[in-house]
Amino acid sequence: MNKLYITTPLYYVNDKPHAGTAYSTVIADIFNRFHQFFSKETLFLTGVDEHGQKCQQAAEGKNMDVQDHCDEMAQVFIKTWENLSIKYDVFYRTTSSEHKQCVQKALQKIFDRGFIYESTYEGWYSVSEEIFYKEKDLVDGKSPQGKLVTKITEKNYFFKMSQFKNQLIQHLQDHPDFIYPSTRQNEVLSFVKNLEDLCISRPKSRLKWGIPLPFDSDYVVYVWVDALLNYIFGAGLWKESDSDFESWWKESVHFIGKDILITHAVYWPCLLMALDLPLPKKIVSHGWLLNQDLEKMSKSQGDILDPLELAQQIGHDSLRYFFSSVRFGHDAPISQKMIIQEHNQSLANNLGNLVQRVLTLIESSLAGTLPPPPSSLHPLQEKSMETCEKVSKYIHEFSIHMAVFEITELLNQTNKFLEETAPWNFISEKDKTAPILYTALDVLRVAVSLLQPIIPNASQEVLRRLGLPPQSFEQTKKVNQLKSGIVVKKESPIFPRVRL
Ligand code: MSP
Repeated sequence: MNKLYITTPLYYVNDKPHAGTAYSTVIADIFNRFHQFFSKETLFLTGVDEHGQKCQQAAEGKNMDVQDHCDEMAQVFIKTWENLSIKYDVFYRTTSSEHKQCVQKALQKIFDRGFIYESTYEGWYSVSEEIFYKEKDLVDGKSPQGKLVTKITEKNYFFKMSQFKNQLIQHLQDHPDFIYPSTRQNEVLSFVKNLEDLCISRPKSRLKWGIPLPFDSDYVVYVWVDALLNYIFGAGLWKESDSDFESWWKESVHFIGKDILITHAVYWPCLLMALDLPLPKKIVSHGWLLNQDLEKMSKSQGDILDPLELAQQIGHDSLRYFFSSVRFGHDAPISQKMIIQEHNQSLANNLGNLVQRVLTLIESSLAGTLPPPPSSLHPLQEKSMETCEKVSKYIHEFSIHMAVFEITELLNQTNKFLEETAPWNFISEKDKTAPILYTALDVLRVAVSLLQPIIPNASQEVLRRLGLPPQSFEQTKKVNQLKSGIVVKKESPIFPRVRL
């Protein structure tokens, strides 16, 4: 139970990361860091989905060799995640030779177990989503997500997905918390009730860029099947020493956006059942970041925000903070203006000002020396301990925005406490200022420690100014943890305001 395996989707490499893909990754990273903070041993996987028509077309559009294009784009993703302080353990690539071998082994196993057959596929394909659709699924001649589709009639291989219908319905009924938020369980259930077999190949004559089927090299594996399998291999299945796989897999949580819920909550469990492997523990789906017309922000709409440009403007911690404040699981409109406003209000004005204010007062009243803790506990310190418990509860419930709300409330109250006590009015009366300033700084310590998974760089910097190393949850949830007697300095503001 002390382990946790967290994954992001593997991103298509047809283009560089955008605000939507950055959102999926940052949120998963924040959860991963929170669980490390709570002393869990975690394995965090992200990576890229490099096969399929979409990727092949992107390389052709640039007149590049497809593998060279993938290598270049994988580096772009790695660099972007580095710039957003994403701390992963595994960066998974589906063009690696290990992955190709494992996918072939898996497909052969499913074939040998009698779950694959040959037939003619007649239907529609959305290259943008890499999804097959039946005529009846189309809405106004497009995919349900509004993407262009093309007609396909060709011989292909099929996975007997429909055979797992009852087993999957049973699993969904027995595990009502399998999908987060549980409100999306119905969408999945209604899809499963009409479950059909899945086309899992593309003829090489039309699509070269993929992993050959082990039992018919004229075909490549359907890109979703190829990519989904990463989750088990990334956790160590079929590695020479795969002893850890089971313990990671038992505690696996897939973070995904709601648009890819069916592939994760239906295709993926059925493939695992066909491989006779257990299902992941949980699938957590987040909402969409919307543009000003309240549509999903997407590359094709041309209204996508560049996460690196945003991070350069306001700082990467501030972008992470903005993502964490979005009501988790729901759609949310975003714009550059909203992100800057959140930075100015929550980080520059609230947190940043509090840091400057308390340290300035300690400098001017106490020559920068931290006083001893007051003889009795202040109610604000008691509140800070309650905040620790609430943050832990909310993170375990995936309500990250509520955790952020509680921390913000604590910071608001600390600012209010300073205004009410107004130590600047009796700055030379050390006996009176010392307990106030100790209390404010000790509560600030708790708030900033709780923010470490969200704003890792700025929080470390604040803690350093308080004379403290990175804090564990155990240390955070104790009162009076400042080092009395050390000298602190105010230094320059951590979150300068950004002009709109
Ligand atoms: N390659 C597949 C996933 C395979 S996983 C085995 C894929 N890739 S993707 O590049 O399209 O990235 C998808 C991720 O980005 C999803 O989690 C999706 O929800 C997220 N987002 C893309 N646009 C988004 C928004 N506008 N808002 C929030 N997230 C969105 O699908």
